[in-house]
Amino acid sequence: MEIRAVAGDITGIKSDAIIVNHYEGMKQPEGDAAIADKALEGAIYQLIKQGDIKGKLNEITLVHSLGKLPAGRVVIVGLGKKRALTVNKIRGAMGEACRYLRQRNVKNVASAVLGTDNEKIAMSDAVQAMTEGALLGLYTFRRHITKKENNLVEIKALTIVGKEKAAIQKSISRGRIIAEATNWARDIINEPANFMTPSDMAEAARQLAQKYGLAVEIFDKEKMAEAGMGALIGVSQGSQQPPRFIILGYKGKDTAEVDIALVGKGITFDSGGISIKPSERMSDMKGDMAGGASVLATLIALAQLKPKINVTALVPATENLPSGSALKPGDILKAMNGKTIEVLNTDAEGRLILADALSYAKKIGAKAIIDVATLTGACMVALGNICTGAFSNNRRLEDRVVAAGKEAGENIWPMPMYDEYKEQLKSDIADIKNIGGRYGGAITAAKFLAEFINNTPWVHLDIAGTSDTDKEKGHLVKGATGVPVRTLVNVVLSMAK
Ligand code: BES
Ligand code: ZN
Ligand code: ZN
Repeated sequence: MEIRAVAGDITGIKSDAIIVNHYEGMKQPEGDAAIADKALEGAIYQLIKQGDIKGKLNEITLVHSLGKLPAGRVVIVGLGKKRALTVNKIRGAMGEACRYLRQRNVKNVASAVLGTDNEKIAMSDAVQAMTEGALLGLYTFRRHITKKENNLVEIKALTIVGKEKAAIQKSISRGRIIAEATNWARDIINEPANFMTPSDMAEAARQLAQKYGLAVEIFDKEKMAEAGMGALIGVSQGSQQPPRFIILGYKGKDTAEVDIALVGKGITFDSGGISIKPSERMSDMKGDMAGGASVLATLIALAQLKPKINVTALVPATENLPSGSALKPGDILKAMNGKTIEVLNTDAEGRLILADALSYAKKIGAKAIIDVATLTGACMVALGNICTGAFSNNRRLEDRVVAAGKEAGENIWPMPMYDEYKEQLKSDIADIKNIGGRYGGAITAAKFLAEFINNTPWVHLDIAGTSDTDKEKGHLVKGATGVPVRTLVNVVLSMAK
């Protein structure tokens, strides 16, 4: 979809539809809606008066312009109460409005800058969110459907109309970079495990390196063994698919140091292994590499936004399957940092592969580490699918990540890391065991990871609840959400400042 900026008056634009906004509780149209209303000889005002337009968040009303405007239709989108408006609501409303118009085969859309009649909302943020909302909300994953969809026509062009063309253009391009990176992550997460093996993921990273000028290195099993990645190799043992350790580097300044390592869990399918999962919804576990996808996707955006900072993405990638050669409950593995792990549940595999990846991040001297993983069902029990759990050894970095999430419209909630939680991980025959007791499972998992970090500032993000959704809502559609790509991009940009 082409997205362009135009300076001027929304009612002067020739298109299939123009979008304006209305707030809940307002007795008459305001701003661009008022200008459109005038051209429509009071039709919008009438609808408000009759109670047909209430302005509730994501409410959509279509009015035909019947020749009174160059545009064929006017869409009035509700933004909720004016005082309660957020940039994230603009992103969601734009997603809803775009899907609504696509459904009606509308090909050319123009929109006023939504929400800028509100002092709290900066024009640049609104335009970026509108761009993201449109591109994320219109996302589809249809490449395995052979029947041509003839009733789904894509929206070809979106024109954002406001006061300052150059500024609008700049925000559009930023929003596009971030949304397209997010959709790249969604694509590889939605891909089933037979189309997204560890080797496929490594190949995808190689292609990114080619396309965006990033540094790439892929470890095969031999290289992993040389590096001492016994935990990653242990998890991969049960699978016919060879594991891969993916290293993708973005250099924004001329030094060798790694300012931030972004580590992402890359389990391309999690059956649980010998500690096998129930079959119901096991297919969801094709998305157990969402953390890995999100850190790779973040580098796509960075390569285009070009902040002056060095970032390395690390993805340990493997399947977790049961077989005659699989890891068994009770087995002991040695991680890259020399620590031994008693594996009491083979379904707690994410922390095992992350143990090696975090050790590697330490070895390359990363000054800060953020890991992202669909790590625990317990995190879903604690937080649902509304927010990502954050676990950290460093309050400043954690605050920065939470703030970046807020800015991105991706909720992140800090979780406690009391030392007492660690007691659950004591093993009688190894340095640590890979599961704790029945309660506090998301935290004991984070405490396990902390054993491979020591003092480096670190934040662990558990996205088990937020990485996919079964509801179409706002900028989200069914399937992978791409969380937390937008947050990670913001974190890196804020650290580069
Ligand atoms: N990949 C799962 C966690 C998960 C569950 C992600 C549901 C998304 C949705 C992880 O590898 C896992 O199986 N964790 C176990 C840990 C337990 C055995 C300590 C869990 O949460 O049940
Ligand atoms: Zn598992
Ligand atoms: Zn898993």
